[in-house]
Amino acid sequence: MPVKTITLNNGVAMPEIGLGTWKADEEGILAKTIKKAVDLGYRHIDCAKIYGNQKEIGKALSELTVPRKDLFIVSKIWQNVHRPELVAGALDDILDELQLEYLDLLLIHWPYAQKPESDTMNPTVDDLDNVPIMDTWRAMEALLDSGKVRSIGVSNFNQAILEKMIPQCRVVPAVNQVEIHPYNQAPELVKFCQENNIVVTGYCPLGGTKISVMDDDFIKRVANAHACTPAQVALSWSLARGVVVIPKSTNELRLEQNLKTVTLTSDEMRMFSKIEKHERKVDPGRDLKELEWVFHEDTAACPLI
Ligand code: A2P
Repeated sequence: MPVKTITLNNGVAMPEIGLGTWKADEEGILAKTIKKAVDLGYRHIDCAKIYGNQKEIGKALSELTVPRKDLFIVSKIWQNVHRPELVAGALDDILDELQLEYLDLLLIHWPYAQKPESDTMNPTVDDLDNVPIMDTWRAMEALLDSGKVRSIGVSNFNQAILEKMIPQCRVVPAVNQVEIHPYNQAPELVKFCQENNIVVTGYCPLGGTKISVMDDDFIKRVANAHACTPAQVALSWSLARGVVVIPKSTNELRLEQNLKTVTLTSDEMRMFSKIEKHERKVDPGRDLKELEWVFHEDTAACPLI
């Protein structure tokens, strides 16, 4: 059965379950995983320049028999191409790696800039660059006219940043991709985005490997009640909130399982608020005072909008 789609603010349909590819980069495994996933019905594949595996993904994509128009391919620009004059080239580079003529969605990976020579995931203050996010966003908007990208959006943007940004946008971001799972539920951000017609995609929807959402007693009880697995409960909870999910797995059975969700009762949905822990797995700037504005909703300290 085809995965259901959600309609973005520009009318483009995005499958609500996608395949995550971060850290799924062991040589050879990723290509096999993509082929298996597409055979199973996945059409949405979430990539990023910084994951360092787009060439392997590109090769796998080039060998698929599914028509390009049936796929929904997402990628993200890294912080070292935020200078507006670098954005179009960054998209060309991504398209080249993925062997594609266009992307369905291009995201700004994080709301702060790094210097062009800095491609680290753990920046120090010397890596940072003073590029206002709206300068980068205007360059993203210009990409829509090139036909090389159907939709544009953001990732890891908090409400304070979006509130400053939206009134200045010609094109409001179609998507905000953020870390969402039962231990990091972000209800206010989800509500704000949805009220502003921004679809939320939740990355690490299973909590990744470090956070034991799948060992949670409540989630296990709900899974028992629905004769399904804790992973399916976690994904079903996100989807019921209108949050798109991009679980990653390299295991065929789990890939298949993650496409089969269940309908949770309203009581079960309500009870999830009791297991919230505000526990984030991905927080690269946590040790850098200059990036506190990225991780905390402190607008006053957000200098670059
Ligand atoms: P594996 O590739 O062996 O299936 P997230 O997408 O939240 O980052 O979580 C990914 C992690 O969860 C991976 O380690 C993946 O391992 C595992 N995983 C993915 N799907 C399932 C599932 N249905 N049940 C249990 N673990 C899963």
